[in-house]
Amino acid sequence: MSFVTAIRRMENADLDRVLEIEEESFVTPWTRRDWLYELTENPINVIFVLDVIENGIKEIAGFIDFMVTFSSSTISQIAIAKKYRKQHLGTELLNKMIEHLKNEYNEIVETITLEVRTHNQAAIAFYEKHGFEGVLIKPAYYSNGEDALYMVRRLI
Ligand SMILES: CC(C)(COP(=O)(O)OP(=O)(O)OC[C@H]1O[C@@H](n2cnc3c(N)ncnc32)[C@H](O)[C@@H]1OP(=O)(O)O)[C@@H](O)C(=O)NCCC(=O)NCCS
Repeated sequence: MSFVTAIRRMENADLDRVLEIEEESFVTPWTRRDWLYELTENPINVIFVLDVIENGIKEIAGFIDFMVTFSSSTISQIAIAKKYRKQHLGTELLNKMIEHLKNEYNEIVETITLEVRTHNQAAIAFYEKHGFEGVLIKPAYYSNGEDALYMVRRLI
């Protein structure tokens, strides 16, 4: 595919497309209400969406939602629509998050953390490629009883 990309803050008008990507990406997808909370009420998070623009047509291909608490930032969700995966768009979103943290919280945020399902080999490979290390297992972390791998990457 030949397209250009642009990353921007998520807006209310993006909700339907974000929910489509959410539903094809996660075992227990967040609901519209969950997303509305993230978008309009959560005081400590940031959500970026990545647009692909091809022949003048724009479509959201993915998103990243993260929060900042003191010296740490946590990725709440990152997803790329299936048809756009493995084209480094997830990498673009992660790099945008890192750029934002360095610009807005220079030398305050020291680490990025996340939890990922232990069966989610694609996501674990993605995070390892980007310098995250699995540091511990959180047993039965998810509502279906699945374990989480807690991963950490130093930012500074
Ligand atoms: C994880 C996810 C966001 C990665 O997005 P992506 O745009 O496909 O990833 P990228 O193309 O930027 O991948 C960068 C690197 O990560 C690794 N990687 C990504 N997907 C992989 C896969 N399916 N298998 C193995 N390695 C993979 C590779 O090393 C890749 O580099 P390469 O293409 O040069 O080999 C995407 O798979 C996704 O949306 N998954 C569903 C939602 C999800 O699981 N989110 C994480 C929950 S914690």
